[in-house]
Amino acid sequence: MDKRIISNEQQHSDDWQYSLRPRKLAEYIGQDKAKQNLSIFIKAAISRKEALDHVLLYGPPGLGKTTLSAIIANELGVNFRPTSGPAIERSGDLAALLTNLQPRDVLFIDEIHRLPRVVEEILYSAMEDFSLDIIIGKGSGARSIRLDIAPFTLIGATTKAGSLSPPLRDRFGVISRLEYYTTDSLVEIITRAAEILNISIDPNGANEIAKRSRGTPRIANRLLKRVRDFAEVEGSDKITDEIADRALQMLEVDKVGLDHTDRRMLEAMIKKFNGGPVGLETIAASISETRETIEDIYEPFLMQLGFIVRTPRGRVVTQAGYEHMGFISPKSQDETIKLFDFEKEENL
Ligand code: ADE
Repeated sequence: MDKRIISNEQQHSDDWQYSLRPRKLAEYIGQDKAKQNLSIFIKAAISRKEALDHVLLYGPPGLGKTTLSAIIANELGVNFRPTSGPAIERSGDLAALLTNLQPRDVLFIDEIHRLPRVVEEILYSAMEDFSLDIIIGKGSGARSIRLDIAPFTLIGATTKAGSLSPPLRDRFGVISRLEYYTTDSLVEIITRAAEILNISIDPNGANEIAKRSRGTPRIANRLLKRVRDFAEVEGSDKITDEIADRALQMLEVDKVGLDHTDRRMLEAMIKKFNGGPVGLETIAASISETRETIEDIYEPFLMQLGFIVRTPRGRVVTQAGYEHMGFISPKSQDETIKLFDFEKEENL
């Protein structure tokens, strides 16, 4: 598990954050587009007394896919049954879940891209006509029976929409992408969390934490709690921007939310490889990390900030990346980047 304080992955020590989860759509801050669409579909499903169409939520970790799914069930007035792709190992596990659903319940499958293939295939008919084809017995005595199940809503969540098989993706009526939160939304989320946790914070303090939270509520809440500890030890009864800044400096979270490791990677790319282009394997070896860790954990946020870009010949640090690290960008760097057609970035 990635234990960095600015990791967007769920950590066991985040369990306290459950108490902060909004229960209604009206309390859910940000993600306006997804919220607007969902609220219309929810109202329509309620008035028709039907199950809501199956919903696929995708986007980076920590943006509230599970929270939003629980809210949908709550707004529909039905049970929320959460599980995850890796937890459903055999088709029997899925059959047990499906046959226990009440009409219109929400079955939530987190990390749905990790469902085993055989399980996924059972899901197709369940999603399409609320039936299950089960094989009973073995060998020549085996026969297939069809079971009806209650009409239900599947909400699938994934960080990797691209790894979902097309037949599964096609069976979702609603597909919504969750975006990184704006600083303003994070200020609201931090202010709300501080109220629930009885933490006194001024707007500038909330803004300082928001700017360094990588667009992610899970990180914002984590930082809020650590800054509170710092304020308490210092004997101050309110979090100001000055206190937040000092606390986050101590935690080595910089002005835009980079930590020691992100900076180490940028610095290695600049100092050892002249800012690139440099291949993932080479970057990974130079800072003793695996290629997967770089690709899945460090790189997405650095790309989101526009500090690095992918080119066909490898990763390149942008001028913004150089400036943030306090280096002067060699002019050729941006010319190199301009040579490539970034529309085709997905194909790299
Ligand atoms: N806590 C975490 N995410 C939230 C959100 N989107 N709105 C309100 N509170 C939250």
